[in-house]
Amino acid sequence: MLLAVGLYGQQQPIAYSHKTHLALGLKCNNCHKNADPGEAMGFPAESFCMSCHRTVKTGSPDIQKLAAAAKAKEPLPWVRVYRLPTYVYFSHRVHTTAGTTCETCHGPVPQRDVIKKEVTHDMRSCIACHTEKKARQDCTACHEERQ
Ligand code: HEC
Ligand code: HEC
Ligand code: HEC
Ligand code: HEC
Ligand code: HEC
Repeated sequence: MLLAVGLYGQQQPIAYSHKTHLALGLKCNNCHKNADPGEAMGFPAESFCMSCHRTVKTGSPDIQKLAAAAKAKEPLPWVRVYRLPTYVYFSHRVHTTAGTTCETCHGPVPQRDVIKKEVTHDMRSCIACHTEKKARQDCTACHEERQ
């Protein structure tokens, strides 16, 4: 599937807007579930999107792409925004359990049409917060080999 420059200028397969959808009353965990067991938040199933889009905006070319992906059971190829090198161990689970909010690490998502990397996540920023919160700072906390 070709990546179009979307309605809001984002490089995504379709012009999905967090702002539009969160204004409908959807919550982060309707779409990003920290599946058990696991550390990732993941992306929503197209079949979930279709629970509304079977009837909403069916004339839109983007919704037709979405419907085709749902029918073929082929996930839309979302372009990743936040991505750590594979040698870093990161867990959403430990952070959300410790009460760190999505907004702290991803900015005011409900106000954004387009998700951009607006919060920096590098070794310096990880360790700055770990120092403040008295979380682990030893190398193996983030670089240990894990299964
Ligand atoms: C209706 C479903 C839906 C809801 C609700 C939703 N998201 Fe998303 N989210 C998506 C989709 C689809 C993408 C991929 C497209 C994009 O990046 O905009 C995405 C991408 C993201 C990304 C970028 C991930 C990456 O590395 O590529 C972040 C961060 C994110 N969402 C955070 C949130 C937060 C925080 C909330 C709640 C405030 C939220 N989302 C609510 C569907 C949703
Ligand atoms: C402590 C900072 C932090 C918090 C808190 C956090 N994230 Fe993330 N998020 C990240 C980092 C770093 C990545 C990149 C992870 C990687 O590449 O392994 C990421 C990646 C993602 C992705 C891409 C898919 C994935 O799982 O890698 C989504 C979606 C996402 N976050 C949504 C959320 C939502 C929703 C919340 C709140 C429930 C949240 N994040 C809380 C830092 C955070
Ligand atoms: C709770 C119902 C609901 C869910 C679930 C939902 N949407 Fe939507 N979506 C809407 C509504 C309503 C609009 C129209 C908003 C407007 O135009 O005011 C919309 C608009 C859109 C548009 C803009 C279409 C256009 O051409 O204007 C896209 C793209 C879209 N949604 C993609 C998605 C994706 C991808 C998902 C799943 C990650 C999703 N939607 C889940 C209700 C929903
Ligand atoms: C905004 C604050 C904040 C940021 C930013 C943050 N962390 Fe954390 N992190 C925490 C807190 C608080 C804990 C401690 C949780 C506990 O002790 O229950 C934690 C725990 C962890 C743990 C678990 C350590 C253990 O106890 O085994 C890992 C791994 C981790 N963080 C990796 C990272 C990485 C990698 C980054 C950067 C991409 C990062 N964190 C950014 C607050 C943060
Ligand atoms: C709280 C998490 C965390 C801890 C603790 C941590 N790192 Fe890192 N480290 C990271 C992240 C995240 C990156 C990726 C940086 C990037 O993408 O720019 C990284 C990257 C690196 C790199 C490669 C990139 C570079 O800077 O050249 C090395 C080497 C490294 N870390 C060594 C260490 C050593 C040695 C320690 C212990 C003194 C340590 N790290 C502790 C999170 C951590």
